[in-house]
Amino acid sequence: MPADQSTPLAPATDRSTPVSEQERAFSAVNTAFGSLGRVCMALDADFRILYASDLLDTLLGPATATLARGNPVESLLGTELFGTDGPLRRALLAGEKREGWRAVLQAGGEPARLMSVSAAPLKHDRLGVCDVEARYLVVMRPADEATVEASGPIGGFGLIARSKAMGRVFKLIDTLQQSEATVLVTGDSGTGKEVMARIIHAHSPRRSGPFVAVNAAALPGELLESELFGHVRGAFTGAVRDRAGRFETANDGTLFLDEVGDVPLHLQVKLLRVLQEHSFERVGDSQPRRTNARIIAATNRNLRKLVADGLFREDLYYRLRVFPIDVPRLRDRREDIEPIARLLLGKAGARAGRALRFSPETLRALLSHPWPGNVRELENALEFAATVCQGQTVQPEDLPPEVLEGAGFGADHAPGVDRSPDTESRGAAPDLGPRRQGAPEQRGALLSALEAHRWNRLETARALGMSRSTLWRRMRAHGLE
Ligand SMILES: Nc1ncnc2c1ncn2[C@@H]1O[C@H](COP(=O)(O)OP(=O)(O)OP(=O)(O)O)[C@@H](O)[C@H]1O
Ligand SMILES: [Mg+2]
Repeated sequence: MPADQSTPLAPATDRSTPVSEQERAFSAVNTAFGSLGRVCMALDADFRILYASDLLDTLLGPATATLARGNPVESLLGTELFGTDGPLRRALLAGEKREGWRAVLQAGGEPARLMSVSAAPLKHDRLGVCDVEARYLVVMRPADEATVEASGPIGGFGLIARSKAMGRVFKLIDTLQQSEATVLVTGDSGTGKEVMARIIHAHSPRRSGPFVAVNAAALPGELLESELFGHVRGAFTGAVRDRAGRFETANDGTLFLDEVGDVPLHLQVKLLRVLQEHSFERVGDSQPRRTNARIIAATNRNLRKLVADGLFREDLYYRLRVFPIDVPRLRDRREDIEPIARLLLGKAGARAGRALRFSPETLRALLSHPWPGNVRELENALEFAATVCQGQTVQPEDLPPEVLEGAGFGADHAPGVDRSPDTESRGAAPDLGPRRQGAPEQRGALLSALEAHRWNRLETARALGMSRSTLWRRMRAHGLE
């Protein structure tokens, strides 16, 4: 948090002169926004607070609004958004508005409040009652943490789930709490197998021991063997000293054997021996060693079929699936999509400094997409949306194109087809919408515009007469990130 964020407010300029017409105008605005639970502030050209609504006093203590006057906006909202290089200051200087950014509101020793902040250059009114010095308007509301919490852990174990299918998984995990049995977690890619494995460990009698993960698909056979069982000096080129394997590191804890379907046949024998006898040898060594590591294995492959094809040992298969848990695909538990999406949007938003929410149409799109990549795909889609979305509400076109297509949303929502009237009205701007021009031409035009502006997105967007989010979407659509 920036140092000056908690600086006590001092009345820098005395504006407590008799009530002027401007004050009355602001008072009306203040009351209107206040009735909606919004705090509103007017800033001058130097980003100093000219007016701040009384609601601030309710949030941060008596007289905050009065004391704030004349102080830089950073004194209340910190330098992250409004400092010299802050995104909101830059947007306002460029004449643009921004909505739904997260900021911590703080003054003096009062507890900080998380706010959703929107800011816009002020257009002057027809009657001229607005203070001519007021250049920018900042409107804030307490950030909707309640909605994140409401959609928070529902199923227990700190995980989100509303569906019966996941309810059954949680029951299984529950019955495992006192057990040290070997578990086989199966399920499609991205369904949450590793998350389950970690939860099982965290609720097991071994929770104070280590959780050691090895991905069998990530290492070639020889390396995997030494990774799992360790090696002695000179066992192979490069083995310059003795090294313990993961089975040893996982002693008193859990060894998570990810992608177990990818373990080559010759290692499957050794694995079976550890499971049966708890003993093994380091590579290049003849001394048997013992491990008491509990094994949780996972795979997205069909082990039964691998067994039938002679690629996976049947005895190992049965040894592993002492306690099988199958994590259902996201499309088979649609009730979970919305709560998980809300949680993940909250997280992605927080990382991007934003307080975001879904439009009903976006939720509809999320519910209609088949999610072949399951929760991981959903997570990535929302990370994308948090980057692309300029307002505080995520619209369908902020979602990645494949999600929109998967959800059956038509060309109106496709990225590159801009809803905003401003891009349509600027006739001079070249039309770079992927669906309106041949793809190579659009890409070429976009590329030369970017190069002409040294890849500065703000300048390029301005030159092309489009918003930065539109530019960003089109860059992505053409692989120009
Ligand atoms: N119920 C859930 N709530 C919130 N996030 C979840 C949930 N399930 C999974 N995730 C998130 O989804 C992502 C994928 O989960 P995980 O890595 O456990 O999947 P996986 O089944 O192991 O995938 P793969 O087969 O590709 O290895 C992770 O970032 C995880 O945090
Ligand atoms: Mg995994």
